[in-house]
Amino acid sequence: MTDKAILTVNDKQFERPLVTGSEGGPAVDVSQLLSLTGLTTFDPALANTAVCRSAITYIDGEQGVLRYRGIPIEQFEHNPSFVEAAWLLIFGHLPQASELAYFRERLTANELLHEGLKNQFHYIPTDAPPMAILSAMVSNLACFHKQFLELEDAEKLVEAAARLISKVRTIAAFSYRRSRGLPFIYPDPSLRYCANFLHMMFSLPYRQYIAPPEIEEALNLIFILHADHEQNCSTTAVRVVGSARANLFASCAAGVSALWGPLHGGANVEVIDMLERIHRGGLSPEQCIRDAKDKNNPFRLFGFGHRVYRNFDPRARMLKTLCEKVLPNLRYKDPLLDIARKLEDLALADPYFIERKLYPNVDFYSGILLRGMGIPTNMFTVIFAIGRLPGWIAHWKEQHDDANARIMRPRQIYTGSAPIDYVPIDKR
Ligand code: ACO
Repeated sequence: MTDKAILTVNDKQFERPLVTGSEGGPAVDVSQLLSLTGLTTFDPALANTAVCRSAITYIDGEQGVLRYRGIPIEQFEHNPSFVEAAWLLIFGHLPQASELAYFRERLTANELLHEGLKNQFHYIPTDAPPMAILSAMVSNLACFHKQFLELEDAEKLVEAAARLISKVRTIAAFSYRRSRGLPFIYPDPSLRYCANFLHMMFSLPYRQYIAPPEIEEALNLIFILHADHEQNCSTTAVRVVGSARANLFASCAAGVSALWGPLHGGANVEVIDMLERIHRGGLSPEQCIRDAKDKNNPFRLFGFGHRVYRNFDPRARMLKTLCEKVLPNLRYKDPLLDIARKLEDLALADPYFIERKLYPNVDFYSGILLRGMGIPTNMFTVIFAIGRLPGWIAHWKEQHDDANARIMRPRQIYTGSAPIDYVPIDKR
């Protein structure tokens, strides 16, 4: 196997080295291309560009492989808690019992919001989108925890991570309570991470919501399945902001904003909207497939397709299994599950989707599952954000720890006007 690539431009040849990781194919190192040749590379949407070296998550999109720190995602189905998976992603190894106990203790100690932050909820309109609230509040944490604006040692990073992972759950639950005009329910330190979140979401001052074990376990797995996905759009946003040496809170707030988009984390909301339209009779599954294939129609089959997975998304497979396990045991039978199955069958048999290798992604079944658990649609992407937070922190840390990291600053192909003169307003 060769260890270099040769680029020929106007009869001139340039040699560039290949970079290999521990797994996956090599990449052509173009980092010195501009200074050596005066050439830049053109790669819209960065679809062919490895922007960093990373040891956190490995994906093989052709084979449907996803691993966190080397561990196949399927092995998380029954074993660790979300808190344990978060430690693994951020600190690179499975926690020892003492480390896990300490991290849990710090999560519990940090679950309350500063009163100043809590009071800000009263000035937010009740119909405000929860993702807007989440992004603002994560950014606002920098106002109340200024001691974490510089993270100079490992211990401080553990504390900052615990604060963020713990408080994001309280912020998320409070944003839901606010949207419903319900009183805030304070966290219960005796509860574990997922049960505590469900308690803050659904308890009443006079009646505590005790999460059924299968719901708590399902939420735990949902969080884990969303916890990292290497250089996805929101993680890249976190890295871009972090590359300017912006603090952890500001960088993660950028991640929340990116995740909000319907082509990214917002897709699970669009999936439910699409399934509901079919259920109400406004759209048939067959029409839905036809619309998705019609190039004159901007409609897409939400919950289908992925930039990296060209086979199947293992998270979607696990979520489908979880749906089949959890939903039949709930009192409420969701007709959307049957519609989703039908849509999936139609799409998987259709040459358009087969040729383009479009399979269900993580968002296809997550919304149906969350609905069954009583989570309102406008909270779906917030749940995704809680899950993705350890991944964002892990990437921020990895970049922060890299002595060679530089500010991210891409180039462009300029397509604007050639030089022209300024024309005073009375002469235009
Ligand atoms: N429905 C219909 N056609 C699709 C879909 C879809 N869901 N996804 C891709 N295609 C088509 C494209 O139109 C394109 O067709 P063409 O070759 O005839 O032009 C072809 O498949 C390739 O698609 P790209 O646009 O190149 O895929 P890209 O990698 O840019 O986008 C994305 C990936 C954004 C996920 C896309 O598949 C999509 O929009 N899916 C629906 C939204 C969604 O579910 N997003 C969640 C992704 S997972 C996550 O973020 C957690």
